[in-house]
Order: sequence, then structure tokens, then C-alpha cells
Amino acid sequence: MLRTHTCGELRLSDVGKSVTLCGWVSKVRDKGGMVWVDLRDRYGISQLMAEEGKAAPEILNTLRSLGREYVVCAQGEVIERYAKNDKMPTGEVEIKLGKVEILNPAKLPPFLIEDDTDGGDDLRMQYRYLDLRRNPVRAKLELRHKVAQAVRRYLDAQGFLEVETPVLIKSTPEGARDFVVPSRMHAGEFYALPQSPQTFKQLLMVGGFDRYFQIVKCFRDEDLRADRQPEFTQIDCEMAFVEREDILSMFEGMFRSLFTEVKGIDIGEIVRMSYDDAMRLYGNDKPDTRFGMQLAHLKGYGNDLTSGANFVVFDSAEAVIGLPVTGAGDYTRKQIDALTEWVKRPQIGMKGMVWMRFEADGSLKSSVDKFYDQAALKKWATLAGLQPGDLLLVLAGDQGQTLKAASELRLELGNQLGLRNPNEYKALWVLDFPLLERDEENGRWMAMHHPFTAPRPEDLHKLGTDPGAIKANAYDMVLNGNEIGGGSIRIHDRQLQAKMFEVLGFTAAEAEEKFGFLLNAFEYGAPPHGGLAFGFDRLCALFGGSESIRDFIAFPKNNAGRDVMIDAPGPIDAIQWKELHLKNA
Ligand code: AMO
Repeated sequence: MLRTHTCGELRLSDVGKSVTLCGWVSKVRDKGGMVWVDLRDRYGISQLMAEEGKAAPEILNTLRSLGREYVVCAQGEVIERYAKNDKMPTGEVEIKLGKVEILNPAKLPPFLIEDDTDGGDDLRMQYRYLDLRRNPVRAKLELRHKVAQAVRRYLDAQGFLEVETPVLIKSTPEGARDFVVPSRMHAGEFYALPQSPQTFKQLLMVGGFDRYFQIVKCFRDEDLRADRQPEFTQIDCEMAFVEREDILSMFEGMFRSLFTEVKGIDIGEIVRMSYDDAMRLYGNDKPDTRFGMQLAHLKGYGNDLTSGANFVVFDSAEAVIGLPVTGAGDYTRKQIDALTEWVKRPQIGMKGMVWMRFEADGSLKSSVDKFYDQAALKKWATLAGLQPGDLLLVLAGDQGQTLKAASELRLELGNQLGLRNPNEYKALWVLDFPLLERDEENGRWMAMHHPFTAPRPEDLHKLGTDPGAIKANAYDMVLNGNEIGGGSIRIHDRQLQAKMFEVLGFTAAEAEEKFGFLLNAFEYGAPPHGGLAFGFDRLCALFGGSESIRDFIAFPKNNAGRDVMIDAPGPIDAIQWKELHLKNA
């Protein structure tokens, strides 16, 4: 070891010790008679000092030649500081230098290696190794490490085996495009990178490994957002001889233990909500339940409090949805107009917005007073649970779009009203998703989760007659409005799996070609099984109080899917084109 201590550990109790520290130069202060250097490593900062006339001249010369981020090895005695710094853990001591050596000089970094850096996103990504030296970034990766260790501890204690599955595979359908890898040895053939280890973990169950997990890279070629990366990590888990309840309680246990171990908090009750209720109450299958403001269906879901008043907009609408905004009765016209403009943006796509105020005196005032009298408005207020001083914002249109818009507006107001505190956590399970969804473009049924998900037993009989009405034995874990995990009980019966492929529009030959290995495995004693996968990056980001996963990944891709540091993706040379049997377009 070059060093005896790290830059973060020396305290008053170390005074008098001779120590050697190694690190990066954070700051040099030369006051003529004295030179101070802040030396940084991942554990903290220690102050080095040398005094003119007392320290050897070559030490002072070396210190004066130091630039930012030089790598230095410094030996000296720990002394008590004259002017203490109570903001630093090492602030009561400094190192009186006896020797200093430059291990490696450094070019001037393109941005400040400080908590609040002047570096823009692109620059920080290009020089990610410098960004990693900054405290906030380091802390996020330390958090990630902690979560990974806590996951391993919990699952190991529960008897789960960590098994690695291959990365060069055949496509697994999880709903995104595959990244493919051309094969040199098999002309014209390609591997796909796994979108998840789904089929392999099921085969591990057939192989008798009844409790499996893996912290594993998954690859999906899809449009990127703050909570999506083309390669990301899952905590992937599967269990055999279980029912849904066993899985929910096992992973609720894991989730709870992660919160206590990593965050030191009790996550509280993890409520369960059906997909239908989530959509009805929040317009969203991943509701943020840190705040209320549940949707009121003035028209739709069996209600109709708006028709027959000659208000064409509502009469012609399939759905009229009210969003109660607690305490917003004093919003000015300007504020309401701004919200109206917000819902009219193309991303939301509403044509307009109606409002109603519950005045302090108990009267109701709305933008549609011409059409609705107090008695009618009173019914709206009652349905929405409005209190004096509250505001109701009302959207109308077709059911799907209006639900979505109301959900977006709810989240936006939640942000504006400060109701979405990143340090407060609310988790829930969303259950009973539809098994299938209709792809309107080509009129085909698509698996909402993936094709291996079992229908709820009580809905099985609808497979041939009314597939759209079947609920899946599937569940998502939602944390603060983010889908952080999902899974299902799987089909383990060959006939049912084959039927499922048929409903999804595969011919028997296509199903055999793509998934023959799984269908065959089901004939050799497949146990009932099920599992789930957590989005590990998302979990870490939320633990860190952020919804953007990028900073919680050591070397992330940018929004265009590029690694700007190594400049990937990049071209390959002519020999590779040839060897891989590719045609250079
Ligand atoms: P699913 O596709 O729901 O399920 O993925 C599980 C979890 O992974 C996270 N996730 C992502 N995180 C970052 N970037 C992405 N591009 C990305 N895509 C998904 C989400 C999601 O909840 N094989 C099934 C699991 C199972 O059935 O056991 C699967 O992959 O947090």
C-alpha cells in the first residue's frame, strides 16, 4: 500500500501520528508564508500544509507546482489545526508535510470537480471518469452498491440461488425491439441480447432451482426517457411451487428490508389495488399515491351528472372527469388559464378545460354556469368530495385520452403544489392487469406483460371467446408513481402456452420455431412457478430521491442512446463487415 490512511479518516485523536495519504489535488492555497493543499479521495478531503522556512524548500516547490487533479502521495505528521473547519469531518487536523511526491500530473479538467459543478451534461458524460470523482455522483453509486448487497443478503437468507444466464440468446419478447449481434460462424444468423432472462429463469424452474435470482443486465432498443436506458439492470427473481400470494409476501419482505437497511425507514403499508381501480381513481396503472386528488367521473363508470343540460362539449363526450384540487379555490383566472393552456399542449391534447370553485360561503361558481345550476353543480361537488375552498378542474373527451390527460394534470398539480416530496415513499401493488391488449394498427392481441403470463384461473374459459376480458395473474410494484417491478404467475402447461401463442397470432410453426425449447421443456415436468423483476436502476434512483436513473449508473448512455465517452455505437472496419457476413450498405 502506498498510503497508511484515507483522506477522510483522520481526526484529533490521530494527532502526532506519521501518516501517508494519496489522492487528487482539489485546491492549493499559497499565502506566501504558508501553502495549503486540499487532497481528495473517495473518503473525503484532508488538508496538507507546509510553512516557508520550516518545511524543506523542495516540498514548497512541489506544492507550488501542483495543478488541480494532480495525483499526489504525501507523508507527514498529523497536527491540530490553528483555524478549524467544522464543516469537514477532518477539519480539526492537518498534515504537516515531511515529503510529497507527484504520482501523476493532470491536465486542467474541463469542469470543476465540486458538488455544484459548472460542467454541462454532455461534458460530464464525455469525461464521466472525472464526474465520478464528484461527491454527489460517488454517493449515488455507493447507494447502488448498498442496495445490491442488501438484495443479495435478503435473497440468500431466503434460500435463493444467484444463477447467471446467457447474454447471447434468441429474442425474448418483452415488448421492445431487440439489440442483435451478428454471428461470424453462422453466416446470416444473429444472436439477440436478452430483454430479460425471462425464458431462462423459467427453464431454471424446470431444472429444479425453485428459488432463483440474478442482478442482471437487460437490453431493450426502445425510445429513451429519464427512467429508461437501453441497457439497464434488473433484480430478476423466480420461484417454483408458489401462488401469487407467496410471491407478493416474499418480495414485500425484500422491499421492506431494503427500506430499513438502506434508508432506515419503515415503508408502511403496501396497499393492493386492482388495475381497474388504479385506472378509475388515478387514470394511471402506476399511480402516485403520496397524495389524494382522486378522479371524479362525472360521466362514465356508470355515472352521468352532465348530460341533458345542452352543453354540447359534455353531451358529445364519452367521459367527463373532474380533478379535485384541495385548497385551490382561490386560484386566479390567470392560474386557471395557464393550466388550460397546459392541457391543450399537443402532448396532452385536450381541447379545453372547465372549472368549478367551491366558495367559502358554500356557493358554487363555474365556467359553465350558463348550463348547470347550483343543484347540478352540487352533485359534482359531492361526487368529487369537494370542500369549501377547493377547485374542480374538469376534462372531457374519449375515455382513454381523458383519463390519461386527467392523470397527467393530477401529477402536474401534485408537482406545483409540492405534494410529491422525493423523500416521502408510498408503495403499492397493482394487481389483475388485463392479460391482453389490442394492437389497433394490425388488429392483433398483444400480451400486456409477456406471453408467458398465466390468466387468472377464473378467467381461463374466456380465452377462446372473449380474450379482451381476461385478467392476468400479474402484478406490478409501484413506488411514488413509478413502475419499479413487475411479474406474474406463469403458464406451465404446454397446451395452455401453445393456445396463448395462438391467441397472440403465432402459427403453430412460428411458435415452435421461436419457443419450441420452452414448449418442450413444459413436457418434462414443469413445476407451477412465478416471479418478478425489479428495475434496479429505478429502485436506486428513487432511494436517492431522483426519478432519473442516469446518475445511478456508472457509465450511462445519453438520451440518444450514445456513450459519448467511448463514442459508441461506432462504425466497424471492412474486415469485420466481411467476417460477419454483413453487406455494407
Ligand atoms: P418488465 O418488462 O416489467 O418485466 O421489467 C421489469 C422492470 O424493469 C424496469 N425496466 C427498466 N428500467 C430501466 N430502463 C428500461 N428500459 C427498463 N425497462 C424495464 C422497470 C420494470 O418494472 N421478465 C419480466 C419480469 C417478470 O415477469 O418476472 C420483465 O422484464 O422497473
